[in-house]
Amino acid sequence: MTTPAEKAIAAGLDPNRIPKHIAIIMDGNGRWAKERGLSRLAGHIQGYSTVRTVVEAAVDFGVQALTLYTFSSENWNRPKEEVEGIMRLIAEAARKELDDLMKQGVRLIVSGRLSELPEDVQDSLACDMERTRQNSVMTLNLAVNYGGRREIVDAVQNIAALVAKGELAPEDIDDKVIAENLYTPQLPDPDMLIRTAGELRVSNFLLWQIAYTEIWVTQDLWPDFTRDDFIRAISDYQKRIRKFGKTADQV
Ligand code: IPE
Ligand code: IPE
Ligand code: MG
Repeated sequence: MTTPAEKAIAAGLDPNRIPKHIAIIMDGNGRWAKERGLSRLAGHIQGYSTVRTVVEAAVDFGVQALTLYTFSSENWNRPKEEVEGIMRLIAEAARKELDDLMKQGVRLIVSGRLSELPEDVQDSLACDMERTRQNSVMTLNLAVNYGGRREIVDAVQNIAALVAKGELAPEDIDDKVIAENLYTPQLPDPDMLIRTAGELRVSNFLLWQIAYTEIWVTQDLWPDFTRDDFIRAISDYQKRIRKFGKTADQV
């Protein structure tokens, strides 16, 4: 059996500097489909196959958490047919992938307002979350019906409720309290944010958590993104100097 460290080395990566948490804005499915004269949904279906590739690679190299931007709170504004197709795809994928998640030891969690999703999507995601909850090789966090501002709004509402009940003093609200009230208090902030398809914006993703995240953008469209591209992204990350406000000499 090859260990993650051995696989990382074989891929030319430093096993001691694998990002613990990688977040990805999986963009470009629509453009990929358009280039081929296909429906936008065909692009999302192809994008699903890239998800499988990247999850496998992340597990291989010992990444501990992978957050995938799957559907944003703004994506409801797309044509009804596309939204319905994406929802169907998420529900189907959740059902189909359960066996592989178990085999890989991947725990599935979801961030976003789940209660607003169609019931079959909620059910299939809830089933995977329940069944995979003991898995500890990697956490796969799907951001579905996710908005970074909404996440902060939801956290503020939780915190305000604690204050109203007298369980928390306003002056005790700090970075830690806010982080603990976000959707995924159990995850560290992402070390690296990958965005495919070239747009230089964050599109309401993880606004709080990416304060010091290393950003890596590729022109490649998500359906074209490969294991080698993922390795290239991590390799570039490993060349960066993370300063967190300090000088280069200090770090
Ligand atoms: C990202 O691909 C997937 C989702 C937003 C669900 P897009 O569908 O945004 O692809 P482009 O940006 O139109 O190419
Ligand atoms: C971000 O992509 C959302 C997901 C990848 C799920 P979008 O395609 O929605 O982002 P914008 O609209 O180009 O900013
Ligand atoms: Mg897009």
